[in-house]
Amino acid sequence: MKYMRHFIIVGALIFIVTVLVSLLLDNLTLLPINASAQATPIDSLFTQHFRLIAFLFALIIVFMLYSFVVFRRRKGDTSDGDHFEGHTGLEITWTVIPLVIVVYFSYVGAQSLDETLRVDPQAMEVNVTGFQWGWRFEYPEFGITSSELYLPKDRQVLLKLTSTDVIHSFWVPEFRVKQDALPGKDFVRDLRVTPTLVGEYKVRCAELCGGSHAYMESPVIVMEQADFDSWVEEQMEASLPDNPAERGALWATRYGCIACHTTDGTSVVGPTWQGLFGREVTLDDGTTVVADEDYLRNSILNPNDQITEGFQPDLMPPIYEQQLTEEQIEDLIAYIESLE
Ligand code: CUA
Repeated sequence: MKYMRHFIIVGALIFIVTVLVSLLLDNLTLLPINASAQATPIDSLFTQHFRLIAFLFALIIVFMLYSFVVFRRRKGDTSDGDHFEGHTGLEITWTVIPLVIVVYFSYVGAQSLDETLRVDPQAMEVNVTGFQWGWRFEYPEFGITSSELYLPKDRQVLLKLTSTDVIHSFWVPEFRVKQDALPGKDFVRDLRVTPTLVGEYKVRCAELCGGSHAYMESPVIVMEQADFDSWVEEQMEASLPDNPAERGALWATRYGCIACHTTDGTSVVGPTWQGLFGREVTLDDGTTVVADEDYLRNSILNPNDQITEGFQPDLMPPIYEQQLTEEQIEDLIAYIESLE
């Protein structure tokens, strides 16, 4: 074939330029540091796209420049160029190859999407509220609110995004994933992130939202689990109510008491707390006891000691002596006393 030599040279040049452009793109560090599990499949997609971009760049530039130089008009040559009437083989090639590439990328894309959306049932929930112009982070598990987002390393966090005014967008470039925060409680959006690198980052608003949009950023601090736990403890201490009964209500939620003891008079696993304080309680051995402070304290610390008539023994675990401090027990008793 007449042009085979040119195709071989051009092919070799395309290969070389592709490799050089790929190396250049790799060394430009176009992406910030990878700090989340969700970033890994996204970065892998980026890398593959950069390779493809390098190849397409080489394909066009090499063919063009090669033709400019090798097939340029020589001095004194006034003849017309060769005439071509289509080329079926070439047309099939430039249809099939891009088709395969597009199908491949849609497959890899779907796979990456699946990976970034993967649900961890153990995820920690944080309610994120965007407003003009800042962010508020609420940790319902601990009852604390912060203007900075603190996260433990290697634990998935489920961000529940909302806005008080206009559309904002939660974006930490190091985590790669991004999600809009929409106004209205029917439009809460989920975003899952598993931080993998201890460090300080910034959440930026990625949706034009008014005058100070550019300054709508808050610190994001990823810590080791132990450091995060002590931060939570500090915040909880600082945000405790002054009223013992209110604190007791907080402990009842936090330590799971209300899973078995209602405060509205209905019986679930254990006796209700409503109207319990000061009442006469019949135990399963037929004796009666007044539900005073000593009785409640004993029931918390030694749950199987005095079982109320009609309830099963051994359901409440005897773990609260270790878990609760003396102040917390007093708060709980004050809370039960307040439930008339
Ligand atoms: Cu909020 Cu831009």
